[in-house]
Amino acid sequence: MKRLIPTGEPARPVELRADPQPFPAPDEALVRVEAFSVNRGETFLLEDPAPGLRPGKDVAGLVVQAAADGSGPAAGTRVVGHPPAAGWAEYAAVPTHSLAALPESIGAVAAAALPLAGITALRLLRAAGAVTGRRLLLTGASGGVGHYVTELAAGAGAELTAVTATSERGARLAELGAARVVHDLADATGPFDTVLESTGGAALPAALARLRPGGTLIWFGQAGGRSAVLDFFSLLDGPENARIRHFHYAGAPYGDDLATLVGLVATGRLHPEIGRTADWSDTAAVLVDLRERRIRGNAVLTVGGAR
Ligand SMILES: NC(=O)c1ccc[n+]([C@@H]2O[C@H](COP(=O)([O-])OP(=O)(O)OC[C@H]3O[C@@H](n4cnc5c(N)ncnc54)[C@H](OP(=O)(O)O)[C@@H]3O)[C@@H](O)[C@H]2O)c1
Repeated sequence: MKRLIPTGEPARPVELRADPQPFPAPDEALVRVEAFSVNRGETFLLEDPAPGLRPGKDVAGLVVQAAADGSGPAAGTRVVGHPPAAGWAEYAAVPTHSLAALPESIGAVAAAALPLAGITALRLLRAAGAVTGRRLLLTGASGGVGHYVTELAAGAGAELTAVTATSERGARLAELGAARVVHDLADATGPFDTVLESTGGAALPAALARLRPGGTLIWFGQAGGRSAVLDFFSLLDGPENARIRHFHYAGAPYGDDLATLVGLVATGRLHPEIGRTADWSDTAAVLVDLRERRIRGNAVLTVGGAR
């Protein structure tokens, strides 16, 4: 079979090569991959790939071999999955605790956009607590995670201000329920109960300054790759006693959260925003565009012409 292998070259970070089909562990199903998505975290891993790195955490396709231990879906079931790695391939071994069955109404392309970004959005909002009637500030809002957070938070009654680079990149966020879309943190009128920050650098202190006293900033990424520098005294000017919470979404099993996301999509309450779909032979170019902020929402690659 074929698999995308990291090259370490910035202009062409992966290439298709022949590779043995995976041999599933007893609690893993073998999935024939029809579509997968790529995420910003993977663009970071590909900058200096560890030896043996086999990327790919978001897959949708067909179970061709059920797990030997009898858990999970039967062969022939259409699924979405979140394996720990190795999903950018024609076949992937996926732990059954990180799979969810798909209804006919959800195609492989939409499904592949769900796992990492969608699970992160769900768990991030759980970390934020009750958001109904609360004022939220979301940076990096035009990305895969940001569109899901926006729609879920707005659906739960939050008043969300989304920060994105341009009006073109923010247009869909308003449709999904953002109360305001701004292109500069200086225009984000606070104070906010909660800040969801994932861009880093100067954005983190600027967003922190817009919290109400005692509010919480949930720090879940550093898309720009730059560390933040904080000044103690600046918080005495408003958001004193603010809290900063480091957040990482990880922690299997993922199957229940995937099933929740599938249910929300199937009932029209969540709309994957797929800014780019391409054949997986174009993955290298798509990764470069994602890295350079040229893709809104999720980027999905199809294997064998999936819908
Ligand atoms: N903590 C966790 O568990 C977890 C899980 C998943 C993802 N993440 C992180 O969460 C963030 C969002 O993930 P994602 O998959 O939605 O990423 P994404 O699709 O690449 O979106 C990130 C957004 O950040 C904005 N951004 C602002 N400054 C940037 C800069 N200097 N360079 C690049 N982008 C910049 C971009 O929007 P504009 O161009 O419109 O400003 C971009 O759309 C990333 O930092 C990712 O690493 C964290």
